[in-house]
Amino acid sequence: MILSGKASVAGVIGWPVGHSKSPKVHGYWLDKYNIDGTYIPLPVSPDDFEQVVLSLKAAGFKGANVTVPHKEKALALADVATERARQIGASNTLIFQEDGSILADNTDGYGFYENLRQAALDWKAETGPAVVLGAGGAARAILVALAQAGVPEIRLANRTRARAEKLAEELDAPITVVDWEKRETALADCTLLTNTTTLGMSGQALLEIDIFDMPKTAVVTDIVYTPLLTNLLEKAHAHGCPIVDGLGMLLHQARPGFHAWFGTDPEVDKDLRAFVLEG
Ligand code: ATR
Repeated sequence: MILSGKASVAGVIGWPVGHSKSPKVHGYWLDKYNIDGTYIPLPVSPDDFEQVVLSLKAAGFKGANVTVPHKEKALALADVATERARQIGASNTLIFQEDGSILADNTDGYGFYENLRQAALDWKAETGPAVVLGAGGAARAILVALAQAGVPEIRLANRTRARAEKLAEELDAPITVVDWEKRETALADCTLLTNTTTLGMSGQALLEIDIFDMPKTAVVTDIVYTPLLTNLLEKAHAHGCPIVDGLGMLLHQARPGFHAWFGTDPEVDKDLRAFVLEG
């Protein structure tokens, strides 16, 4: 580790923040690329968020990742925002620019799409309908990314239908809302199925879905990565579908921030995956 007086400093702001894998990911890259810099966890309560961000900027930080519950506040506080952050309505990456302004970006959808692009080489966005399960914050970023990638139709099913309808109304995306109970009928001719709900996560209920009628060519992804092989991915693999696990999304979403703060576009590879999975 190199840490001189000129080191570039960034971190992740959350409340709590102890569960975050970001310090591990950025620490791995800082070592790998021999960069004079550091990245630290910053537990900050909602009441202190704005003051802390402004203080970090004044203290010479290059920027910060932002996680729950601060993502909306982060966008509101920034001077400028990327188009994708504005569309998603939240920011997970703040960049303190040389002119003193704060730029808000949102790289969640980017991470999802990059992971898919690299792990499912045969999948092409424009070739058919995508099915998305869930309508929370993660779904929002993924829907924006899929629409921007050119997916012609997105079938969105959520337990609370009103939340899915709200997303369909708010986002500039070709969304058709499907009843949660009818989620299986949406699979018939889809080319992608994505779970953005918490179902299947360790300690949560399993995702119940019969994928028998889904084409075997459809790519199946899950944003849950604990466990890495969720019950949905297991089922999809047994059905013959290509599967993409959720760890890659987490790793790829970290890349734009690292690039902005430390000047290198880092690589997501097997060694990084193994390192993050260690604990
Ligand atoms: P995030 O912002 O990380 O996406 P969230 O906003 O809490 O998290 O969203 C969690 C998603 O999982 C929601 O789509 C939620 O459905 P509701 O909108 O109906 O709450 C979904 N979810 C959680 N538990 C579920 C369950 N037991 N059955 C079906 N969907 C569930």
